[in-house]
Amino acid sequence: MTAQEIIDKYINFFEKRGHKRIENSPLVPENDPTTLFTSSGMQPLVPYLLGETHPMGKRLVNLQNSFRAQDIDEVGDNRHTTFFRMLGNWSLGDYFKKEEIPWLWELLTSKTGFGLDKNKLYITIFGGDDKFAILENGKYQPLTPDVESKSIWTTILEKNNLDPSKRIFSYGPKQNWWSRAGTPEEMPIGEIGGPDTEIFYEFTDIIHDKKYGEKCHPNCQCGRFLEIGNSVFIQYKKVGEKTFELLPNKNVDYGGGLERLMSAVENQNDIFQTSFFSSTIKIIEEETGKNYKEHAQKMRIIADHLGGSVFISNANIKPSNKEHGYILRRLLRRSFDNFYALEGKDISPIIHKIVESYKETYSYLEKNFEKIKLTILEEEDNYKKTLQKAKTYIHKKYQEERGEIMGVKKISADDAFILYTTHGLSPTQIKSLGYIFNDQQFAERMKSHQNISRAGATKKFAGGLADHTEKTIMGHTATHLLHKALRDMFGEKLHQAGSNITPERVRFDFSFDRNLTPDELKKIEETVNQKIKENLPVHFEMLPLEKAREIGAIGLFNEKYSDKVKVYSIGNYSKEICGGPHVEKTSKIQKFSIMKQENIGKGIRRIYAKIGA
Ligand code: ALA
Repeated sequence: MTAQEIIDKYINFFEKRGHKRIENSPLVPENDPTTLFTSSGMQPLVPYLLGETHPMGKRLVNLQNSFRAQDIDEVGDNRHTTFFRMLGNWSLGDYFKKEEIPWLWELLTSKTGFGLDKNKLYITIFGGDDKFAILENGKYQPLTPDVESKSIWTTILEKNNLDPSKRIFSYGPKQNWWSRAGTPEEMPIGEIGGPDTEIFYEFTDIIHDKKYGEKCHPNCQCGRFLEIGNSVFIQYKKVGEKTFELLPNKNVDYGGGLERLMSAVENQNDIFQTSFFSSTIKIIEEETGKNYKEHAQKMRIIADHLGGSVFISNANIKPSNKEHGYILRRLLRRSFDNFYALEGKDISPIIHKIVESYKETYSYLEKNFEKIKLTILEEEDNYKKTLQKAKTYIHKKYQEERGEIMGVKKISADDAFILYTTHGLSPTQIKSLGYIFNDQQFAERMKSHQNISRAGATKKFAGGLADHTEKTIMGHTATHLLHKALRDMFGEKLHQAGSNITPERVRFDFSFDRNLTPDELKKIEETVNQKIKENLPVHFEMLPLEKAREIGAIGLFNEKYSDKVKVYSIGNYSKEICGGPHVEKTSKIQKFSIMKQENIGKGIRRIYAKIGA
């Protein structure tokens, strides 16, 4: 079965059961201040999981391009990738566990489905978390084990002559609770989540390695078990440090990685050896003259990281030291390191092969191939220059200033750290230049540095992901008004280049080649306030992409491939492709005040504004 055949089978199965297919959301979310990348199919659906009505109904299905930067360091084993394609189905307050679980079993095991050997399937369920309580009808109930899922699975397994006591495993919140933030403990107030049940496939040809524990089990890290699907029962919202309340609906959020499902379908214990990835691995072997068997880890990193880079570059991101650009830079530089370590010279054929391997599903990649290649090759050039600069820095310091002799390549941990912070080189990259330094001293510096960055990240997270507060929603609608006012004044070549919204302020980036004059800023501010005063209604429609383009909706048209998009209109004033959410009437924003503008370089200006009375 090809990747496309797997996608079709999955989508058809759920369409037959009343689901409507929704579009793939952009990998780099537009107008979403809360996250850098779309990392699961549920992410664009948060407003609906919270209770808003979805225009396509209560049963949805899709294929979502997903990227998880947090998994970068895991890549190299038989199953982890940063970029993957998630097959997803949802019930927004419609069916629940007793439909979802039997459907999944049918889809995975039946002859008309994926026909997996049921002897190789294992189930995990939520074992409860006594540190948390649910507020229900004014009373606190403990967060108990998911006995309902267990009982549904028990019936199914028994019917199939399988012993439930050997197949169903119960785990705590670390394994069987899902939210975008992780465990109940890690969730910020306002975040949604719930218990989940996961399906694992067993590769009986992988022998358990005792370094991972005495006994093997589904969540063992030895590689024998592969998680191929996860049904989350999203029914709770965190409201206190130790408490949840019920959402208006009991929702199902299923997600399963296409690449992993393919591993199971092919009974191939290494996802990089499945029929989807094998052509990319083969070209890496050719371009390096090395053998996959001996260099699997490096080749997996190259294949995964370049694949992710292709999709991120396609979304018009350029490598940089910040946010999306930083992640792209990290992916690319790790690919280059591993490629050079294998004595590879020309990376272009690999990029081409990756684009080709996705072309059945995403023809736009081929169309954008030259642009993608240019982004990657420019970064390669930059990286080579950075390496040269780092060498010059060390050379100057150790040979010219101190008169030390060539060939002595021991550098201080302080200098290694400077190469890390100012030149952006990782310890491995520094070592690959031939330098040695005290690892422990370096690790200590790194630790205090990470503590500082983590504090920053947590702050951003708390003000971001959890934040669907009224104030941020107001800010979001204000950015649409601002965008339109700017385009009316300066022409349609001006376009949004990013935005970030917190309850305190709105930040809006746009392409423009000079600073705005005080008069122009005043005029823009007045226009936005005028539109707020007019109390324009805000609503959305689902429109075919072509139609959205025709009516002049603002938006990026390069990534969406399935037919319908969500277009938000503000009266007859602005029309923009966007996921929402927004206020219902512009008067809710009350007031819009520009605080300052900045030139952030490369032809991009930034406006900071306050909203509210
Ligand atoms: N949202 C769930 C996940 O990403 C399905 O695993």
